[in-house]
Amino acid sequence: MEISRRKFIGVGAAAAASLTLDRTARADILGEASGSVSGLTRSATRPVVVSSANGIRGVARAYDMITRQNADTLDAIIAGVNIQELDPEDQSVGLGGLPNEEGVVQLDASCMHGPTKRAGAVGALEDIATPSLVAKAVMDYTDHIMLVGAGAKKFALEMGFKEQNLLTEKSRRDWLRWKACLNPFDNWLDTRSDSAPPPRTTSIPFDDPLHVKFTTGTINMNAVNAAGDMSSVTTTSGLSWKVPGRVGDSPIIGAGQYCDNTVGAAGSTGRGEANIKTCGGFLIVEFMRQGMSPDEACMKTIDRVIAMTERRLLDERGRPLFDLQFYALAKDGRFGSATAYEGARFAVADSQGARLVPMPFKFSRAERPQMPEVRCRRA
Ligand code: GLY
Repeated sequence: MEISRRKFIGVGAAAAASLTLDRTARADILGEASGSVSGLTRSATRPVVVSSANGIRGVARAYDMITRQNADTLDAIIAGVNIQELDPEDQSVGLGGLPNEEGVVQLDASCMHGPTKRAGAVGALEDIATPSLVAKAVMDYTDHIMLVGAGAKKFALEMGFKEQNLLTEKSRRDWLRWKACLNPFDNWLDTRSDSAPPPRTTSIPFDDPLHVKFTTGTINMNAVNAAGDMSSVTTTSGLSWKVPGRVGDSPIIGAGQYCDNTVGAAGSTGRGEANIKTCGGFLIVEFMRQGMSPDEACMKTIDRVIAMTERRLLDERGRPLFDLQFYALAKDGRFGSATAYEGARFAVADSQGARLVPMPFKFSRAERPQMPEVRCRRA
């Protein structure tokens, strides 16, 4: 997801909340010509693993571990997200994640284990590539739920995690480019070539090489096994160029992810500040508890997010000037998702294999507001 760096100029009223999904989106997903979101249901086989699109390799791994090795659901999905955490090319999580404004990579993660009703989390963790595993270690080895900053790192080292520099050369260069574009009157020059790609986003490809953007990349992954046991995990390097110490929704139990073994699991990617105020992961699970399908629960939570958004982050028609995606999995194996704008997909692995599925959306691609530009002072 991406947010232009400078101003979020927005006036006007919030959009009217609506549970009705765009017809084209539903038709893409279900092969239907028309109908309402009410009662919308996808496959209800088990096991199922669901994640953000960047977890496409991870859902395959997790599904394989659950089906072939009878792995615990939390172990399986953490092994799934570890693929991206350890991939230096992925600038949204773990090793190679985009750093804060001082060039330091700070990672957040949380997890919940449905059968044991336990949870763990870490925030602003430095120099450890797999915060999802450190979050699980907090859950397994302490009587606490969340450790942050220096304490989280000290704990991780005591647990035997390897300390390493997480700032890759590519992320370091992107950070310097961001600095160069901060202020046209300072002394930093943008020395990139015109052909150099901009910092990547992981969720929706709205990249434009003329612009430098904040990005949030994250993986949320949820699983249910054949017996109906569930788990959830979310891991991230958070908002790029963030104020040091900033923690988003990913490590917050009930926001970045949530799992109730009797109902379902849910999580998010995108602008954490927007999700924290609605406790999105928890709210989606509660909506499913009330009988909504995973798609309905996610879309109703998108509506709640928009309703809870301050005016500076809405356009004149009340549409959000940010991206946020929700993912949900019901105990019976139904899965769903929702986001504000057309164009995103999410990853699913079940008996039909691992695949990317179009995400239900509230506003068409044409309705997406233009984000303000940031121009660089060139060398
Ligand atoms: N959702 C990831 C973050 O805002 O940090």
